[in-house]
Amino acid sequence: MLEIEIKKKLLAAAVEAAQHSHCPYSHFRVGAALLTSNGKIFSGTNIENVSYGGTVCAERVAVWKAVSEGEKEFRAMAVVAPGVGESYPCALCRQVMLEFGLDWLVISGDAHGRYLGECSLRELVPFPFTPQALLGDQP
Ligand code: THU
Repeated sequence: MLEIEIKKKLLAAAVEAAQHSHCPYSHFRVGAALLTSNGKIFSGTNIENVSYGGTVCAERVAVWKAVSEGEKEFRAMAVVAPGVGESYPCALCRQVMLEFGLDWLVISGDAHGRYLGECSLRELVPFPFTPQALLGDQP
């Protein structure tokens, strides 16, 4: 179980990251904050590109920042986005996230960081393509 104070902290970090969103095309500011199993937080925001395919989502920025700093064990990711209702990572981000396990939490918040809901990554991807498909039982 993740304590409510940590969820609030993650949502606040995601809101802060969203302030740095580079989104001149969609004007859709997304923020993400990733909690590692040893308590570190890595945030990310979406970074768009005039060549649209070069755009990257907030969630992947957070994952890549963590992995490039040597962290690969995750407990939770908070995602904040504008609009009504919960918003969860896109399918491509879900795939990138599940590279590092399925049993961790995804928390959804609004643009102000208010908690909207949560579910596990396993629930978000019920029939995943996992590293085990290529690696078998190897570590
Ligand atoms: N976006 C994210 O950052 N995360 C998602 O899960 C969905 C979409 C971004 C990509 C793009 O900059 C903008 O939102 C509109 O799709």
